[in-house]
Amino acid sequence: MLPNDQALIDEILREKKKNNTLILAHTYQPPEVLAVADLTGDSFALAKAAESLEAPRALLCGVRFMAETLKILSPEKEVVLSHPDAGCPMAEQINPKEVEAYRKAHPDHGICAYVNTTAELKALADVCVTSSSAVSIVRKLPYQDILFLPDKNLGSFVADAVPEKNIHLMNGYCPVHNEITAQDILSIKAAHPGAKVAIHPECPREAVALADMIGSTKDIISYVNTRDDDIILATERGVYDNLILEFPDRKLYQLCPQKMTCADMKKTNLQQVYDALTGKGGEVITLDESLRLRALGSIASMLRYGN
Ligand code: 13P
Ligand code: SF4
Repeated sequence: MLPNDQALIDEILREKKKNNTLILAHTYQPPEVLAVADLTGDSFALAKAAESLEAPRALLCGVRFMAETLKILSPEKEVVLSHPDAGCPMAEQINPKEVEAYRKAHPDHGICAYVNTTAELKALADVCVTSSSAVSIVRKLPYQDILFLPDKNLGSFVADAVPEKNIHLMNGYCPVHNEITAQDILSIKAAHPGAKVAIHPECPREAVALADMIGSTKDIISYVNTRDDDIILATERGVYDNLILEFPDRKLYQLCPQKMTCADMKKTNLQQVYDALTGKGGEVITLDESLRLRALGSIASMLRYGN
């Protein structure tokens, strides 16, 4: 924490109370942003928060698709994204026209969209999933064939975990997690013999194959919480940055910290939180009502299947 952070934190706490605003922050946010949040968690937890949001206004510290998801589920609330330029590059990778063409060609297939997508893609899907809910939801879907978009890595992980279904992939990926190579894993294992590797399924299959544990942000955190081992974290570095504050005496290691930094997740700092709270920054999310209603079905299905 920087020396003048405390003054800013005090201002933020005052402002959010005054404006009756709840702050929701994704786990990849910097520790000082998580410290001022009312609710922190992975993408699924942030979407689920819509069911019990009591304040009229929510400030989402994370990336655009998370704020849009919240707005789709809570149209009566004012939802503010902490930084207008904080997007997820993966969300934009698939052209909706391709998905429409797939639907026409395969009317009996289900379409499953990772929640890291635009509202337009959500509107074309039957169901959304997050990394923590993908396997269990896909297993329950009433389709034999499923198009999984956009993430080919998460899609392959799901295909391996649910072999009874035919999973069809598109060529999307997270530009952060997809950078990890098998050699990166081998090198860090050699540097820390005996340490277990916990990896996010957005990483490529050949890297995932070398890990001891594969799981979402939430799963990785509970793996660290429930084991005494030294652990190498192969996911976005926000998870490590926060866990090491909680467990300063544990031997936790961040894989390739430079490569595993999501620039979009780091666009929000305390000043941006303050500016968004006071109307000097951030972006109030607005969605065309017919688009919102079309996207609502797939997100509501995610919450229903995921609960
Ligand atoms: P989860 O929050 O579902 O683990 O997703 C990881 C991620 O990349 C979010 O952008
Ligand atoms: Fe998107 Fe990857 Fe960043 Fe998550 S870590 S917001 S999937 S670019």
